[in-house]
Amino acid sequence: MRYSILFFTPALVALAAPGAQIEQIRNIDWEYELLGNKSPLERRARSEKSLDAIFKSLGKQYFGTCADRNLLNNAQNAEILKADFGQLTPENSGKWDTVEPTQGKFNFNDLDFLVNWATTNGKVVRGHNTLWYSQLPSWVSNINNKDTLTSVIQTHVGTEVGRYAGKILQWDVVNEMFDENGGLRDCVFSRLLGEDFVRIAFEAAKKADPAAKLYINDYNTVEKGASYKKTTGMISYVKKWIAAGIPIDGIGAQAHLMTGEAGNVAASLKLLCAAAPECALTEVDIVQASAADYVNTVKACVDIKNCVGVTIWGVRDPDSWRAASNPLLFNSGYSTKPAYGALVQTLGSMTATYKPTSAAPTSVAPTRTTVSTTPVVTSVGTTSIVATTSSYPDATSAACKVATVTETVYR
Ligand code: G3I
Repeated sequence: MRYSILFFTPALVALAAPGAQIEQIRNIDWEYELLGNKSPLERRARSEKSLDAIFKSLGKQYFGTCADRNLLNNAQNAEILKADFGQLTPENSGKWDTVEPTQGKFNFNDLDFLVNWATTNGKVVRGHNTLWYSQLPSWVSNINNKDTLTSVIQTHVGTEVGRYAGKILQWDVVNEMFDENGGLRDCVFSRLLGEDFVRIAFEAAKKADPAAKLYINDYNTVEKGASYKKTTGMISYVKKWIAAGIPIDGIGAQAHLMTGEAGNVAASLKLLCAAAPECALTEVDIVQASAADYVNTVKACVDIKNCVGVTIWGVRDPDSWRAASNPLLFNSGYSTKPAYGALVQTLGSMTATYKPTSAAPTSVAPTRTTVSTTPVVTSVGTTSIVATTSSYPDATSAACKVATVTETVYR
């Protein structure tokens, strides 16, 4: 098929009027016709019109994805990362159970690897995450003294953020702290410190890296509709905290969507983005990856001036935490799926009419400094870890419990 089109196209084009000829040539998918689906050349060609490049020409900072050492060492995956994405988020290597499994003994081996890979390859990094009720070691969840917990948060957040000062664009400082009713999730942090743990964590992060954009990140905030209690609750709290001087720069909406939920994203994201200096879609994946759902979701960010970027939560379906739902932009053969092409087409066509405004986010270049690969501590100890399951959300963690869970579909 591919070769027959190539053979007959010049003859067909020659019969048409000049204007129509150009139009017909433009309509041929040359990349597909000439390069096929899987060759390295195709990937290079795709990078010239990659979603990251399109995003940047629409005034955004990045179009990114997540990975860790294993996927960065996978040649096919790395090739796609280099060609198509401009930002990397550590999927797991920045979490508390990896970074500080035993009190005071830090292990940055895998996070160093990712930050070095990203800076070497010209990608910005979103740090994920310094404080989360899940993937939390039991030595933290068992703390029962307010002052101890305060100092533990300050040390953990300050050490992790400080290590990469100047090298990380954004940090998810606090992750998934709200329950489905828009209140504080019941966990060791809120139990001992009330909402003050938010101030403690953000101030520690700000002190450690004044230039990084500090985010509060959560799920089910764009999925369920603009009047969903978790969405409105998060907005009220964040506005109040920013007004009180807590250095929150951005709201992250994860966007782990079910089929059909994409229709809710635009209105919800607009409200969330109005509550903070900037915002981002931070962990997008969509059950069955319908092209229309992906376009609706990603375009919601494009249409909002202070939405600075979109992160897709993985490259290839089989490597997703929701592998059975085929939620990503690349299939098991590392080929693009229809949603990828639909995004390129829809967003690419917007670049022709895009006019930069002063309110558009500025692009941030990664600092190309190599992080020391010498581990601070190589012993990760034997501390037991709370909540190592990939089920989501984790309503049964010993560290935290969800007051009301209305979203159970992912489990
Ligand atoms: O690294 C261990 C390995 O040593 C062990 O042999 C293996 C056995 O199960 O587990 C490995 O750890 C797993 C880890 O992923 C790395 O693969 C954990 O069990 C598993 O729970 C963990 O799942 C991650 C999950 O967060 C929990 O941390 C997913 O990969 C990751 O995609 C997911 O990401 C979260 C975001 O951080 C926050 N928002 C929700 C999102 C999806 O759940």
